[in-house]
Amino acid sequence: MSIYQATASAPVNIACIKYWGKRDTKLILPTNSSLSVTLDQDHLRSTTTSRADPSFTKDRLWLNGKEEEINEGGRLATCIREMKRLRREVEDKEPNAPKLSTFPVHISSRNNFPTAAGLASSASGFAALVKSLATLYQLPAHPSQLSLIARQGSGSACRSLFGGYVAWEMGSKPDGSDSLAVEVAPQSHWPDLHALICVVSDDKKGTSSTSGMQQTVETSALLQHRIKHVVPERMEAIKKAILAKDFDSFARITMKDSNQFHAVCLDTEPPIFYMNDVSRSIIALIVEYNRVSVANGGGYKAAYTYDAGPNAVIYAPKENLKEIISLIVKYFPQAENFKDPFQLFGTQGVGA
Ligand code: DP6
Repeated sequence: MSIYQATASAPVNIACIKYWGKRDTKLILPTNSSLSVTLDQDHLRSTTTSRADPSFTKDRLWLNGKEEEINEGGRLATCIREMKRLRREVEDKEPNAPKLSTFPVHISSRNNFPTAAGLASSASGFAALVKSLATLYQLPAHPSQLSLIARQGSGSACRSLFGGYVAWEMGSKPDGSDSLAVEVAPQSHWPDLHALICVVSDDKKGTSSTSGMQQTVETSALLQHRIKHVVPERMEAIKKAILAKDFDSFARITMKDSNQFHAVCLDTEPPIFYMNDVSRSIIALIVEYNRVSVANGGGYKAAYTYDAGPNAVIYAPKENLKEIISLIVKYFPQAENFKDPFQLFGTQGVGA
């Protein structure tokens, strides 16, 4: 008897141009394109094993060892259904292929990062789930095609199908068939860029991304300005900066976009606050660090960005990391009960 089982991993990605807002909440179609950097495989990743077996009675899923409900019509059920649909296409073409699409699946997913990192695991989680089912079903699928399905699990997950520098093009078709992730440049294009993650708080965030962004869509006039008049040009400018390995432009755009994302959160009714005083002090430190460098005839040395929480991600060329870490340790002494307040993750396989 054959065993049908496959394992795959996908890393976390951190957006430089933020996705915030859906034009279709069921298909998860965004109100603007976005762009992120996928961290390297060694550090923050989800690993998922899927197994198809005719003796299973239903689809089931375990997250870090704990079983999660697969709600009918929910995001998980949608991803599994869509992957089975792709498998059926293979079976229709090859009559001898085992009918795996008719077997229930058991899926087990684990994150290798501590929950204390305070990072959303849905991006790496749904990307790893889709990848493992694609391997199990032996689908001849391109990552962009798989990104269409991961997107329906969690929007940002579509970008974790690629390593390196990735754009999620918002698309315009109502069925979402052109709302997918594309590679802007592979990791190897700019290996010098690193990401430093500063854990400001490991509390669970107050407003989830999913509900926060819908409140913003419904109430923020600033979001309308952002999606029409800011993001389209910013997407082009940051792609150019990445292709030219122009850190000054990359840093300025990344920080401006983080600021605008938090501004639209503040413009939401009721307002949403993701950053706290420590987050804002880290911004002040990075701004001053860059100011001194530019005043001395140098360029930008670091860029901060914040997602839907208080933790900072600092992008910087490798040569600046030591200095940045010592500055952070100097101004933000480690909490007694918090042994590892910041962690260094390479975008290219280097970490400490
Ligand atoms: C601030 O992808 O978690 O991290 O599609 O509702 O699952 P859903 O939202 P999610 O939102 C991520 C928002 C963000 C910005 C980004 O990653 O682009």
